Amino acid sequence: MNFSGTHILSVKQFTRADIERIFEVAGRMESYAERRKITRVMEGAILGNMFFEPSTRTRVSFGCAFNLLGGQVREITDVKSSSITKGESLYDTARVISGYSDVIVMRHPQSGSVSEFAKASRVPVINGGDGTNEHPSQALLDLYTISKELRSNDRNIDGMHIAMVGDLKHGRTVHSLSQLLLLYENIRFTLISPTELCMPESIVSDLRTAGHQVHETDDMESGLSDNDTVYLTRIQEERFDSKLEAAIYRGRFRLNQAIYTRHCQPNTVIMHPLPRDSRKEANELDNDLNQHPSLAIFRQADNGVVVRMALFALVLDVVQLVEESARDVTWHTKGRFEKNIPLQSQQN
Ligand code: CP
Repeated sequence: MNFSGTHILSVKQFTRADIERIFEVAGRMESYAERRKITRVMEGAILGNMFFEPSTRTRVSFGCAFNLLGGQVREITDVKSSSITKGESLYDTARVISGYSDVIVMRHPQSGSVSEFAKASRVPVINGGDGTNEHPSQALLDLYTISKELRSNDRNIDGMHIAMVGDLKHGRTVHSLSQLLLLYENIRFTLISPTELCMPESIVSDLRTAGHQVHETDDMESGLSDNDTVYLTRIQEERFDSKLEAAIYRGRFRLNQAIYTRHCQPNTVIMHPLPRDSRKEANELDNDLNQHPSLAIFRQADNGVVVRMALFALVLDVVQLVEESARDVTWHTKGRFEKNIPLQSQQN
């Protein structure tokens, strides 16, 4: 596809060649994301970072990605602080914000809302998550992470075994990642969820039509064996009619050190889009795995910056210019990205 000036709304718009292009550009962004080099290629450009739903990683990493390219960021971080609460339409909001911005990232609780917004926007819009529908940049960073983690063990995305665990009905990250994996070959999916929270039938059907094996189960322990990657998800409490209903499922599927050792093959990559629900009654991914070398969750979150820098560079068509304004940083950064553990622990 020609990325220049294009909205990024769904993983369905990518070919495998597009993904390879995004990952190639993301790889070139690592020295900037790790603050070893600076580029000012987007100097003067403005990102409208419109978040009408809570976010830590997506909002901040899109903002960092734009800043790291030299641009500036203007944000809405809560629907209550926007004029949508006064009855303003998405159409008017899009027309106005796109006059202030060169590119917009938007998250909204309603499925399809970001596409609706994009129709009125005068600049490219990137979907930062729309309801239970899609989270395309998350799927790209997930796949980028899977590729890197598997490569370090001489494995590939084609032919891999992946288990997805938890709330597969409401989790837009697993919806987008599964649909992105339609572009790859001969993958075995083990979908572990309560029956009521299973993966939408349309996605399962698409996976089977693409030639992948799909096994659905509510038995976590048997489902964990013989996987290259285990991708855990949180019970998406905010998508249920009531907190009481969500509580029925919370804590049903948990991964901790003992379960991992007993049921997963060695080197199984542990992923989670985050946030994980660390409350005692949930705890789907226990802190006792925090130092495990196969725990990729923080490397996964770090990868969000390079993948989002790549999307901006491609959509605003500056990939070839990034290096031209590059220089070394002047402050101390050594070691920060070399280990997956906090600085305090490194010093002990
Ligand atoms: N993974 C993810 O979308 O995290 P946030 O909700 O914190 O943005």
